Amino acid sequence: MNIVILAAGQGKRMHSNLPKVLHPLAGKALLAHVIDTARSLAPQSICVVYGHGGEVVRAAIDAPDLIWVLQEPQLGTGHAVLQAMPHLGNAATTLVLYGDVPLIQVDTLRHLVHAARDALAVLTVELADPGGYGRIVRNAAGEVVRIVEQKDATADERAIREVNTGIVALPTDRLAAWLGQLSNDNAQQEYYLTDIVALAVGERVPVRTAQARGEWEVLGVNSKVQLAQLERVAQRRIADRLLEQGVRLADPERIDVRGELVCGRDVFIDINCVFQGKVVLEEAVEIGPACVLKNARVGAGSRLAAFSHIEDATVGPDGVIGPFARLRPGTDLAAGVHVGNFVELKNARLAAGSKANHLAYVGDAIIGSRVNIGAGTITCNYDGANKFKTVIEDDAFIGSDTQLVAPVTVGRGATLGAGTTLTKDAPPDTLTISRARQISIPGWKRPSKK
Ligand code: UD1
Ligand code: CA
Repeated sequence: MNIVILAAGQGKRMHSNLPKVLHPLAGKALLAHVIDTARSLAPQSICVVYGHGGEVVRAAIDAPDLIWVLQEPQLGTGHAVLQAMPHLGNAATTLVLYGDVPLIQVDTLRHLVHAARDALAVLTVELADPGGYGRIVRNAAGEVVRIVEQKDATADERAIREVNTGIVALPTDRLAAWLGQLSNDNAQQEYYLTDIVALAVGERVPVRTAQARGEWEVLGVNSKVQLAQLERVAQRRIADRLLEQGVRLADPERIDVRGELVCGRDVFIDINCVFQGKVVLEEAVEIGPACVLKNARVGAGSRLAAFSHIEDATVGPDGVIGPFARLRPGTDLAAGVHVGNFVELKNARLAAGSKANHLAYVGDAIIGSRVNIGAGTITCNYDGANKFKTVIEDDAFIGSDTQLVAPVTVGRGATLGAGTTLTKDAPPDTLTISRARQISIPGWKRPSKK
């Protein structure tokens, strides 16, 4: 089949500088959802009709398999499809989708396309409140005779609750012929795609309808209110899928997945966590409340306590992270690493069993195994112009409140005394300390107020 995706509408009601179809739903642009669904039908061609300001859309979404067609000016849905016709493949069936109806499901479309062999197939839905939609008008025998837009409808027609979702499938040659016959003699002076229904009926081409599984599937986004409603629908569906796979969620209403979350067995996720990009949680991982993970992998059996923030980083198996830990890009933790509260790691590799349990900054560093990094330790990796590396070898012990002025190396088994400012390499198996000797001054008095 061919697929035409209509995305030329401006989306004025979004009140945004961002084109409507680029607004994200579950972390992905509305139009990207529709394109991904289209792709899974393996069509011969996918044609996106874009409009004014649509270059931004094209730049954001472009891919080699997409054909972009500018519709300028925008004279209605029929006019939009007409622009796409010269660019379509020669497939027998053409399916029309909307760029702002993001949750349409592949199965539903398969049914619709199946119904469109030698027929016009229209996806419809019954709505409690059909206001604003085109109504499906049927005759006494229950056959569809036409679609009437809200603005052109009589009071009786407005009472019809079965509405046009806008999604249709039909033989490509019929579509081409009917589009040529549309007129704009209607309330909005637009070329309505929906008028092809009456043309089909006139030519005795069967008009079939298929129903969506639920209203959510065909809901369009015209405003931020609708976007927020659909976001909840999308998130609940993702949560349900995770539950079905065996993930334990403290509350399926309080998880946000804005990308792809892959979980092993017996994973537990507490409330209010956000997952962005691709996140992998291996078997028996536990994520505490309010954690944010972006493009991260967490090894089997690791536990993240509340408010941990992980981005472009890897946690090995059996890690103990947080609360309030920050793992920035390039952090790579081996097995059994502990990272405690208010510890920030960036571009840092920690080998097995190393610990940084409290208040530290470790950046551009290679840390060996079983290293203990004391509270308040800072790698001074930046001189204001360039970044330098810190190396801490296996079994080193870094005393509290130590500054490691990079580039610098702490040898295997070395100990740094608390408060050391290390500016030269520390030899292995040795205590290095840079503290002034402690003195007490007898008879010293505190200054008094004058
Ligand atoms: C359309 C249908 C209506 C249906 C409703 C479902 C027509 C005449 N009406 O109405 O029966 O119930 O969708 O939401 O088809 N678009 C273009 N170019 C244009 C006009 C629209 O690309 O010139 C695109 C829009 O970006 C949008 C889609 O087509 O993705 C629908 O346009 P919209 O203006 O929302 O159509 P409605 O008037 O709501
Ligand atoms: Ca609409």
